Amino acid sequence: MTNSGALMRAIKAFPVPRGSVAMWWFGQNGYIMKSPEGTLVSTDLYLSDSCEGLAASLGLDLRRQVPILIPPEDLEVDLYTCTHNHQDHTDPATIEGLRHKDTMMFLGPHPSCDVFRASGVEEGRIQPAWPQCLVEFRDVAVHGTFALPTDDTDLNHMGFVFQFGSRGPRVYVTGDTDYTELLVSAARHKPDLVVTCINGGFNNLSHWEAADIVGKIGPKAAIPCHYDMFADNRVDPRQFAASLKLRAPGVGYQELGYGEPFVFSVD
Ligand SMILES: [Fe+2]
Repeated sequence: MTNSGALMRAIKAFPVPRGSVAMWWFGQNGYIMKSPEGTLVSTDLYLSDSCEGLAASLGLDLRRQVPILIPPEDLEVDLYTCTHNHQDHTDPATIEGLRHKDTMMFLGPHPSCDVFRASGVEEGRIQPAWPQCLVEFRDVAVHGTFALPTDDTDLNHMGFVFQFGSRGPRVYVTGDTDYTELLVSAARHKPDLVVTCINGGFNNLSHWEAADIVGKIGPKAAIPCHYDMFADNRVDPRQFAASLKLRAPGVGYQELGYGEPFVFSVD
């Protein structure tokens, strides 16, 4: 295990109070979330620099700007989820590098499942997901939500509402999505926390659109993401904080630091 394995060990040892979830951010849309019973759920972990290779053909600077805080070989989660099959969300290099993939379950829409398979995950560990699906895993329930594709390279985008414990916090992760009022349908799961893309680039929600959707859903707090990983896809998250004040007054703004625990409680 490398020195970076220290963060994975710290996450595994971190105590999560009842009625709470602990979260760690790894840049872009990548998170690890931990339930009170110790279930570890990741979403959209991008733990390589594989997107750099896309830059040559597109003329974009897609070199990663956030350090890899946990190398794939050190990652140990129970449920590995992906919202859609873009490389900064379902990353073959990350998945191929997982040393513990024979103990994890993998969840995502079918194109992500194809990547799981091609990256060496055994069939019995792959669980397809779709908007409106419900997958229960130990003390975590995962509700699939709608997301509008941002381009025609992947037409199977989705989001997730993760619920930690039967009466614990519900966290809505939008995934990459274009603006549509259908995003408000996630409100049926009564999320306490919304984690939303804000970058506007590549046809994602802008900070203003994200704040509009958050205001219509009405969580306690909102966390911006997907504004930091690539030089050509950056936005100042303070713009989202300002947009929230105007479009979602009463919703708290929460910015996460990389690899720092954030504990959110419903009590
Ligand atoms: Fe993305």
